[in-house]
Amino acid sequence: MKPDLTVEIAGLKLRNPTMLAAGVLGISGSLLRRVAEAGAGALVTKSIGPEPRAGYPNPTVADVRCGLLNAMGLPNPGIKAFSRDIIALKTLEVPLVVSVFGSNPQEFVEVAREAEKAGADALELNASCPHVKGISEICQHPRLLSEIVESVKSAVTVPTVVKLSPNVANIAETAKIAEDAGADAVTAINTVRAMAIEIETGRPILANKIGGLSGPAIKPITVRCVYEISKSVKIPVIGCGGIACWQDAIELLLAGATAVQIGTAIAQKELKIFKSVASGIQNYLENKGYKEVQEIVGLSHRY
Ligand code: DHB
Repeated sequence: MKPDLTVEIAGLKLRNPTMLAAGVLGISGSLLRRVAEAGAGALVTKSIGPEPRAGYPNPTVADVRCGLLNAMGLPNPGIKAFSRDIIALKTLEVPLVVSVFGSNPQEFVEVAREAEKAGADALELNASCPHVKGISEICQHPRLLSEIVESVKSAVTVPTVVKLSPNVANIAETAKIAEDAGADAVTAINTVRAMAIEIETGRPILANKIGGLSGPAIKPITVRCVYEISKSVKIPVIGCGGIACWQDAIELLLAGATAVQIGTAIAQKELKIFKSVASGIQNYLENKGYKEVQEIVGLSHRY
């Protein structure tokens, strides 16, 4: 019999450990449905706030060879409009995680409540967008992070995941703060603060100047963060950042992740990446004589 690919995160059952990362394709119901049909184990939407938001002017994305640099400015239709997309996804066969942001705890609560009411299976709190004022500082302020997580947890019953920023001195401490405040899981990591300059003119490429780096360049940072976090907390860790093939996913599972999110790699490898990562994990488990994913989660910690 083939090894079992299912994993469980805070009560959510995933048919395999791959998830769509926030911010990529998660902006409409029809796109989300396509990602589910392509084989993802769970979906995370683009971050949704309390009101419609246009985001920053262009350029918002730059290809920096080792990855992608982006500063979109959290464009989204607002939770009222997006609730219609969530409702339309009721028949989805995989868990739908709505990514939520706000500029204070009350706004997080407001969006979280609406998302739950519309049918979100879980929430992922974006406490870590690397450049939008009010969000980029959350992980650097333990009391604010605690207050956001505690407020949301007391307002909803669905599992609440906290997406952490790598732009802090000690991410394991940040994860512990989220856990102590009631988080059901953490996602590590959001993008890394970064910048690119056009040398002919000397002009910063992104309109916002500073953006978030994703893709292969940040994968070793993801591995280190997942490894450090899974040593310090008991809640599940979801690995995110630079995963582009099944080997990357295995590395993250060994570091301590229970599932992995894929984002930037979709641009290059298209939606078939979900099935290829899932089947790569299954073959690896089979070749090594394991029966299920959980057997290799955090295995690297024994060294
Ligand atoms: C944006 C948000 C993020 O959380 C991130 O990591 C990168 C970009 C944005 O919308 O600008």
